Amino acid sequence: MADRAELKLDGKTLELPIIVGTEQEKAIDIRQIRAQTGFVTLDPGYVNTGSTTSAITFLDGEAGILRYRGIPIEVLAERSTFVEVSYLLIYGKLPNQTELSTFSQSLTRHSMLHEDMKRFFDGYPSTAHPMAILSAMVCSLSSYYPEALNVKNKEQTDITIARLLAKMRTIAAYSFKKSMGQPFVYPKNSLSYCANFLNMMFSVPAEPYEIDEEIVRTLNMLFILHADHEQNCSTSTVRMVGSSQANLFAAIAAGILALWGPLHGGANQEVLEMLEEIQRDGGDVTKFIDLAKKKDSGFRLMGFGHRVYKNYDPRAKIIKAACERVLPRIRKKDPLLDVAQRLEEAALKDPYFADRKLNPNVDFYSGIIMRALGIPTNMFTVMFAIGRLPGWIAHWKEMMDDSSSKICRPRQIYTGNNLSPYVPIEDRK
Ligand code: ACO
Repeated sequence: MADRAELKLDGKTLELPIIVGTEQEKAIDIRQIRAQTGFVTLDPGYVNTGSTTSAITFLDGEAGILRYRGIPIEVLAERSTFVEVSYLLIYGKLPNQTELSTFSQSLTRHSMLHEDMKRFFDGYPSTAHPMAILSAMVCSLSSYYPEALNVKNKEQTDITIARLLAKMRTIAAYSFKKSMGQPFVYPKNSLSYCANFLNMMFSVPAEPYEIDEEIVRTLNMLFILHADHEQNCSTSTVRMVGSSQANLFAAIAAGILALWGPLHGGANQEVLEMLEEIQRDGGDVTKFIDLAKKKDSGFRLMGFGHRVYKNYDPRAKIIKAACERVLPRIRKKDPLLDVAQRLEEAALKDPYFADRKLNPNVDFYSGIIMRALGIPTNMFTVMFAIGRLPGWIAHWKEMMDDSSSKICRPRQIYTGNNLSPYVPIEDRK
């Protein structure tokens, strides 16, 4: 393979280096184009643009492969825990026993929120979307830990990382309790990460809450599957904000907001609402498929399609299998699973979806699992955010540790008015 590409422009030839990744992904290095030619490249939606090199996650959308630090997602989902995967993503290797214990203990130690922060929740209406609360609270953490503003201090960054991972689930559970009008439940140090979260979500002072180990395992799997997905919209947002050397809390708060959108993490909520609508409407899946094919309907099959996966999303495959396995075990029958399966089957047979390589994505079945775990629909995207947090942190850290990182500042091609006069108001039409 050639190690250079040639760009011919205005009679000049520019040689552009070829960059090859460890999995043979190829890129043309265009860093010199503007300096040498005055041209920029234009790529709306960054469809062809690699914004960085990264050693965290490998995904091959055509082959349906997803690996964290080289380890297949299927293996991690079956054998690991969310805390271990968080360490793997952030620190680049599987922890040994001592490293894992130290890391887990620090997540336990930092799980409580400052008591003053509890009052913030009172200011929100009970109908507030928990994503709005989550993002505001995460950003507010920076006011309680101003030492995190020094992003160059590595020791401090490790504490900030532990604080974020530990407190995110406390904030999420409190926002749920707020919406339910129930008292906040403090974290319990004796519980594992996921069990602690379930306890804060679902226990009430009036009666004991028994933690189901099957649910804990399922939650670990769900978080692991969401933990990273290389340069997606929210992760790129975290990198973008972090590139200005804003602190980690601020960058993560921005990532949470990017995730909220229905074309990204917000899709899991929309999928479930769509399945409910189909069921209410009598369950005719073909009617909704036809609607999704009509461009002017404004309706898309939520949970279908992906910018990168042009084959079955491997995460969707694992979650679908988990739905079929876990639902009967936790004694939940969900008619929406049947709607989802029929919808998927009909869509996959339809040439519109086949031609465009539109398959179920991670959000298609995750809502059904979360419903079975007792998570309310408006918390789905919050669950995604808890899962994605280690990935966001890992990317922020990778960027901060790279001394050649630059502030992210894309260019544009201006298409507005040419030089225009300022017309006094009395002369304007
Ligand atoms: N239903 C119907 N048609 C669709 C869908 C869908 N879900 N997704 C894509 N298409 C069609 C588009 O209309 C377009 O058709 P055309 O070529 O005739 O114009 C073609 O497929 C390509 O779609 P784009 O929107 O150009 O693809 P893009 O890569 O920009 O978008 C996206 C990917 C946003 C995920 C899109 O498939 C979508 O909107 N899906 C539904 C929302 C969703 O599930 N989002 C979650 C993504 S996964 C995640 O973020 C965790």
